Amino acid sequence: MIPYGRQSIDEEDVQAVVAALQSNWLTTGPKVMEFEEAFARSTDTQCGVAVSSGTAALHAAMYAIGIGPGDEVIVPPMTFAATANCVVFQRGTPIFCDVEPDTLLLDPKQIEEKTTSRTKAVIAVDYGGHPCDYDTIRVITDKHALNLVADACHALGAYYKGRPVGSLADLSTFSFHPVKHITTAEGGMITTDDPHLAQKMRVFRNHGITSDHHQREVQGSWFYEMVDLGYNYRLTDIQCALGISQLGKLPTWIERRQAIARRYNEFFSQLPAVKPLALKEDVLNSYHLYVIKVDFTELRTERAELFVRLRNKGIGVNVHYVPVHLHPFYQRNFGTRPGMCPVAEAAYEQILSLPIHVGMTDADVETVCATFQNVLEP
Ligand SMILES: Cc1ncc(COP(=O)(O)O)c(C=O)c1O
Repeated sequence: MIPYGRQSIDEEDVQAVVAALQSNWLTTGPKVMEFEEAFARSTDTQCGVAVSSGTAALHAAMYAIGIGPGDEVIVPPMTFAATANCVVFQRGTPIFCDVEPDTLLLDPKQIEEKTTSRTKAVIAVDYGGHPCDYDTIRVITDKHALNLVADACHALGAYYKGRPVGSLADLSTFSFHPVKHITTAEGGMITTDDPHLAQKMRVFRNHGITSDHHQREVQGSWFYEMVDLGYNYRLTDIQCALGISQLGKLPTWIERRQAIARRYNEFFSQLPAVKPLALKEDVLNSYHLYVIKVDFTELRTERAELFVRLRNKGIGVNVHYVPVHLHPFYQRNFGTRPGMCPVAEAAYEQILSLPIHVGMTDADVETVCATFQNVLEP
């Protein structure tokens, strides 16, 4: 099976992890700050805060901007559940705002319609690796004094108008799950230019305690204070050592993902019933996912059937995502219903994610194209 996503680990990564294992610090040691600084530099931001997952990054972001009971946060439905769940963790209410049909990115035109006196923030999801239209969204968030948070878990290495994703919102969150651009097994990061917010999130990831074990060791002190309720969302030194090693390979890996996407684009240009998602001008897509929209009526087949046929032939297609507002949890607790986000719901019926990861050879890419062609033949 050629999976839709997969990590890439080389000998240099293995040696970095071995060195961390043999050092004095397994968790919260010098590698954490080194990874945070390297990551912040690579996204052209002042601060990076490493945490244990992309979900923890989103939760820390909601905490840092003070989301609490009664607050509304605008989110797109075409995303992983964690984008909305982080609002609920803080007892806020996610408000689902529909996406644009050609990119499946949050539709800026609809954000203002969803804004009320209770709205505190917008979470823009860079779906698939394509950055949202941040300049347009920023005009709206500035007008209504809302925080702008980027769920950039799909978009490490992407650019918008020459500026890297990570530097485009008040806070940007990343995931290092193995299917993402770089991995620390589980892991996440928040980037921001606001040192005050960064400090709040460092306390939050460490039980709400103001100093960590490493800092106390350096200062020769035992005293600490818990100033707020926090969590254990720390990323270990072992994981950060892997992250530093992986980050060095990111530019080459983005080029590889783009080369794969170009080949798919060329292949699908011959199939009128299949459309890759649109690529806007002034954007560099880092292609976490390669998503196609399929006209199943024209192909006289159903998505489930095509899905099974491709899987049976070793092509690990997937579907990203079931729109979040349709999940039973949201319908039950927030009264969301089918019909609330018609563009996302219609797109959901048509989308398929094809394999795209740096371990794929050119032959693997050709196998995906040939198999796709093959399963369409009667
Ligand atoms: C858009 C988006 N947000 C958040 C997350 C959560 O990241 P993690 O799995 O690292 O908690 C993911 C992960 O799949 C994601 O795709």
